[in-house]
Amino acid sequence: MIAIILAAVLAASAAPAFAAIPPAYTNHTVGGTAGWAFNSSTNSSNTNYTDWAAGQSFNLGDYLVFNTNSNMTIVQTYNATTYALCSTDQDDSNETSVYADDGNEGFGIAESVAVALTVEGPNYYFSDSGDDGIQCSKGMRFEINVEHGLGLPPSLSQPPPPPPPLWPATPPSTESTGGTAGQTGGNASGCGAPAGIVWSGVFGVAVGLVLA
Ligand SMILES: *[C@@H]1O[C@H](CO)[C@@H](O)[C@H](O)[C@H]1NC(C)=O
Ligand SMILES: *[C@@H]1O[C@H](CO)[C@@H](O)[C@H](O)[C@H]1NC(C)=O
Ligand SMILES: *[C@@H]1O[C@H](CO)[C@@H](O)[C@H](O)[C@H]1NC(C)=O
Ligand SMILES: *[C@@H]1O[C@H](CO)[C@@H](O)[C@H](O)[C@H]1NC(C)=O
Ligand SMILES: *[C@@H]1O[C@H](CO)[C@@H](O)[C@H](O)[C@H]1NC(C)=O
Ligand SMILES: *[C@@H]1O[C@H](CO)[C@@H](O)[C@H](O)[C@H]1NC(C)=O
Ligand SMILES: *[C@@H]1O[C@H](CO)[C@@H](O)[C@H](O)[C@H]1NC(C)=O
Ligand SMILES: *[C@@H]1O[C@H](CO)[C@@H](O)[C@H](O)[C@H]1NC(C)=O
Repeated sequence: MIAIILAAVLAASAAPAFAAIPPAYTNHTVGGTAGWAFNSSTNSSNTNYTDWAAGQSFNLGDYLVFNTNSNMTIVQTYNATTYALCSTDQDDSNETSVYADDGNEGFGIAESVAVALTVEGPNYYFSDSGDDGIQCSKGMRFEINVEHGLGLPPSLSQPPPPPPPLWPATPPSTESTGGTAGQTGGNASGCGAPAGIVWSGVFGVAVGLVLA
């Protein structure tokens, strides 16, 4: 019985692409020990975030953990123009979200913010603090490419689209989107939800065999 379940799960997960087993979900600490910070004395970022990002791979369902303080913001956008401008001023679409935008609490208040990766493809990050986007233009910025990996876990799936025909319908997820706490504008996720549904479907097949 166990062998049958294992075979069914393996076949279901391996068959579509004959791909290598995707990596587990990962939390990436932005900038490593340097954190996400701009030093106004040296007028530079604490580290080179482009170099930091180049050293790792990113997948749906991963989180970026920003260890930062209220002198910086965290802007997440899928809009290359907004990223190039170092500014959200001309973009209030659902492609752009601002996290940790709590500068009115005072300067230099430490905080740690986890931002979920919910959209495949180019994701851009910058701080829009400082006059004329000075933090961003001086290095508080980086771009990553988010790959599919395991797909979105149910905890990050938005209210699902109509269920795909191959699988039994699954009840809508009622969990909130964990990574969007602190979001002050726009809707950060939505694409990629079908992946979560497919995985629920695979799980459903395994459960069905157990019950049988
Ligand atoms: C990654 O961060 C999220 C959001 O803070 C958290 O729920 C999850 O437990 C973390 N995962 C690991 C492996 O640390
Ligand atoms: C800014 O850089 C200066 C010079 O390297 C350093 O002495 C200072 O501690 C830094 N400030 C912060 C807040 O990291
Ligand atoms: C930081 O650099 C910018 C651009 O080079 C410059 O306009 C600004 O005056 C500098 N700020 C400080 C505090 O040195
Ligand atoms: C992208 O941002 C630019 C300006 O930042 C804005 O003009 C444009 O409408 C945005 N595109 C989308 C698809 O939201
Ligand atoms: C935050 O910004 C204020 C005002 O520019 C500055 O005095 C303070 O040193 C900064 N704090 C940190 C931790 O960078
Ligand atoms: C970060 O390093 C890259 C080379 O890896 C360089 O092209 C880029 O200008 C650096 N960024 C900053 C802000 O110094
Ligand atoms: C976010 O999504 C909700 C529900 O779909 C919608 O009512 C709201 O207008 C959206 N907000 C933005 C900024 O797109
Ligand atoms: C933004 O909204 C549009 C239209 O509702 C939708 O097609 C798109 O997937 C959304 N993008 C993101 C990143 O949520």
